[in-house]
Amino acid sequence: MTDALVLKDVRKSYGNTEAVHGISLTVKEGEIFGLIGHNGAGKTTTLRMISTLLRITSGSISVYGHDVETDSKGVREIISYLPEDAGAYKDLTGRAYLDFIARFFADGDERKRMVEKGIALADLGERIDSKVDTYSKGMMRRLLIARAVMPSPKLAIMDEVTSGLDVVNAYEIREIIRGIARDGVTVIMSSHNMFEVDMLCDRVGIINHGDLIGLGTPDELKREYGVDTLEEVFVKAVKG
Ligand SMILES: Nc1ncnc2c1ncn2[C@@H]1O[C@H](COP(=O)(O)OP(=O)(O)OP(=O)(O)O)[C@@H](O)[C@H]1O
Ligand SMILES: [Mg+2]
Repeated sequence: MTDALVLKDVRKSYGNTEAVHGISLTVKEGEIFGLIGHNGAGKTTTLRMISTLLRITSGSISVYGHDVETDSKGVREIISYLPEDAGAYKDLTGRAYLDFIARFFADGDERKRMVEKGIALADLGERIDSKVDTYSKGMMRRLLIARAVMPSPKLAIMDEVTSGLDVVNAYEIREIIRGIARDGVTVIMSSHNMFEVDMLCDRVGIINHGDLIGLGTPDELKREYGVDTLEEVFVKAVKG
C-alpha cells in the first residue's frame, strides 16, 4: 500500500519550548489514523505542521511524496484541513458558503457538482439556505465536514471533529469519515473520545508531552497493555 503520510523525527519549538519532540510515523493510503493525547500534548501542533500552516522546526513530513517544506503548494492541493475551532463566514448561507469554497477548486459544471456533493454531505435539509450564523454547533460542523470532504482530498486532516456534538451528529460524521476512507481517502484525526477512536481508527498514535509513546491498531495496543479498552491503554500509557 502507498505511504500517504510520512513523518520523520518531526520537532516543533515555540520559542524556547519544544512542543513536539521528534515524532515519526507512517500512515497508509485509505487508513484512518487517530492521534490521542492529553490537552497540550501536541496533537494540533502536529496536524497544523502536516497541513503546512505551521513550519516544522526540524525533521520532515511528506504527503504522497510531497514535502511540506519544499513543496507546500503540492501538499495543499491534495489535503483538506478542518481545524478544531473552525468557523464559516457567518453572513453567508450554508449553500453560498459551499459555493464560495468550491470556487477555489473548480469552475462551471464541476463546481456545481462539487456544491451538490457538499449539500448532500452536510444533509442540512432546508437549513442549507439559512445563514450560517443561525446554525447550531452540530449544523456548523456538518457544513464544515462537507466543505472538507467535497473537493475529494487525498488526505483529510481533522482536529477534534466530533467534539461537543450530539450522539446522532457524531455518529453521522463518523459514517462520513468511514465512507471517504472506503473511497481511498486517507484520514488523520485527533479525538479525546476513546470509544470513537477505538471504533473508527485503523491505527492510533498516543502523544504524551510531545512524544509518541504508543502506536498500533486499537487491538494491538490493548494486547500490549493487557487491557480491554483503549481508555485503559491511554491511562496506563500516560501514567508510564
Ligand atoms: N502559538 C503557540 N505559541 C506557544 N506555545 C504554543 C502555541 N501553540 C501551542 N503551544 C503549546 O504547544 C503545546 C501543544 O499544544 P497543542 O495545541 O498542539 O496541543 P493539543 O494536543 O492539540 O491539545 P488540546 O487537546 O488541548 O487541543 C502546548 O503546551 C501549547 O501550550
Ligand atoms: Mg488541539
